[in-house]
Amino acid sequence: MDPIDRRRFIASAAGTAALSALDLAQAAEPAQAAASAGPILLATWPHGKPANEKAAEVMAAGGSLLDAVEKGINVVEDDPKIQSVGYGGLPNVDGEVELDAGIMSGTTHRIGAVVNLHQIKNPISVARKVMEKTRHSTMAGEGALRFALAEGFTPMQLLTPQSLQAWLDWKNDPHHVTYWLDAEHHDTIGMIANDGRGHLVAGCSTSGIAWKIPGRVADSPLVGSGYYADDHAGAASATGDGDAMQCYVTSFQIVMLMAQGRTPQQACEECLRYMATTSPATRTIQACVIAMNPRGDVGAASMNAKYPLQYALWRNGKSEILDAKPVL
Ligand code: GLY
Repeated sequence: MDPIDRRRFIASAAGTAALSALDLAQAAEPAQAAASAGPILLATWPHGKPANEKAAEVMAAGGSLLDAVEKGINVVEDDPKIQSVGYGGLPNVDGEVELDAGIMSGTTHRIGAVVNLHQIKNPISVARKVMEKTRHSTMAGEGALRFALAEGFTPMQLLTPQSLQAWLDWKNDPHHVTYWLDAEHHDTIGMIANDGRGHLVAGCSTSGIAWKIPGRVADSPLVGSGYYADDHAGAASATGDGDAMQCYVTSFQIVMLMAQGRTPQQACEECLRYMATTSPATRTIQACVIAMNPRGDVGAASMNAKYPLQYALWRNGKSEILDAKPVL
């Protein structure tokens, strides 16, 4: 074969692809967070604040990033007052709570996820077991439950008196919304942790949309949609109307925009604007995203001001709730 010179190689399609991969790996080496003496924790919604604080505590005690995200999310899953995640989450149309969660290490590129899990209040912990104890990545339904039981998780009734009453009220309302037609009640906990040395973990946990059709799975447990992490580029998580957002693989899209040089804020806004441009119906939905790069810079945005996003940030010992920017 002819020797190929650098210029001809770069001009070739194969060269372009190879260089893109190379550039990506070289240009975005995991970078130590510039202005941080330790971990940086980012989470969706005000309930992300106690999650971040727990995660900070776990890391201060020597826990790993995976421990931090798992235990942080557990705080929200365990809280019966939060009706969109874990114990006390609003049920499906049949009155059964179905939980979804996923977790990803940006260092190993491994994920663990569970979808449509019943009776176990901490799906993020089961998801982590899938990642660490099996060769699988995502487990669903009955198999996921059997796996969780085999791993020692305790089955329980996930309805609280309040969530049962909310379901009864909905069921007895002759004008109630059904998801064959319409949608309401979106929420989740999405979380990103950076150890201050450029290593990233992202996770997401939800009970999904209230009164959903049994078996419905939205963005939260789907890798690339609800969460994504890559130490070379950044991490992202999404919350909102997961039926619409999963069609845009939002978290992966945001991470790839960061890989191309966008800041986390630019990447979040560009992703939502792309959705609004290519599918005008998404302009009025609840769509919210958060992102962090290996340096620890963060971004957050909501599609519109009608459904604003508040998010929680923990950095240098300071724990706060902030308002994200609406893009429309
Ligand atoms: N984003 C959560 C859900 O739609 O289920």
